[in-house]
Amino acid sequence: MRDTIPSGVIEALRGAKSVVVLSGAGVSAESGIPTFRDAMEGLWAKYDPMELATPQAFAQNPEMVSRWYDERRQNCALVKPNPGHHALARMERCLIERGGEFTLLTQNVDRLHQAAGSRNVIELHGSIWEWRCERCGVSREERGGPFGQYPPQCACGGTRRPGVVWFGEQLPPKAVRDSELALGRCDLFFSVGTSAVVQPAASFVYLAKRRGAKTVEINREPTPVSDIVDWSIMGKSGAILPELVDMAFKK
Ligand code: OAD
Repeated sequence: MRDTIPSGVIEALRGAKSVVVLSGAGVSAESGIPTFRDAMEGLWAKYDPMELATPQAFAQNPEMVSRWYDERRQNCALVKPNPGHHALARMERCLIERGGEFTLLTQNVDRLHQAAGSRNVIELHGSIWEWRCERCGVSREERGGPFGQYPPQCACGGTRRPGVVWFGEQLPPKAVRDSELALGRCDLFFSVGTSAVVQPAASFVYLAKRRGAKTVEINREPTPVSDIVDWSIMGKSGAILPELVDMAFKK
């Protein structure tokens, strides 16, 4: 079951000049990529994030941590963008055609938004496709099969780590700056498929509200921002987003 889309949301998108969308693992769930905190199928339901997604974990057991991330990278190689990803790419195109602006702030590391055609994407938590040398800092996108050894080695002899943000690490400063700039200009903000508990992304809705933007949540279940936003639409993003974009931008 899902909520119907309020007409106010359709009107707000149709008339928007500058839209910011924050996406989370829920948008990729319908492509078959596990979320983090969903009770049953979430990654963190099976593994302790503190044992896998921290610099300390990698320092203690680089083989296990790099193997776990490379398995996730291989899984990402097997999946495709779903209708939710394509709807966001279409939303961007329709807004640009009308002389508007669109910024997609994603917490996801799978690059499915880009694969669906989204252009202005800010990767808040890095990308599982990028692997960076701890010694020389060289980062390279790896689209091939499994690494031959774990952790993978750099030509300089250094150890390579996944180019994702781990717990306790800072987000890329440019990503945060560019996000804040976009939030400071937006008149419509969407929070889609995120549990809205990880900072600083979880606070972006407040920046948008302070700017006077209308705010919308699209999520499968209530979150801490459900009572903050102007509209909270419960349901799957892969169904709601395409319908919303169709209704807002139908010719
Ligand atoms: P979570 O797993 O915390 O939350 C996913 C949200 O999506 C949940 O609220 C689900 O109810 C919802 N959801 C699941 N399937 C959905 C669907 N088909 N349509 C709509 N909503 C759906 O994932 P994130 O909020 O993205 O950080 O987690 C934020 C960050 O925490 C991640 O980027 C990761 C994690 O630690 C790092 O790895 C640094």
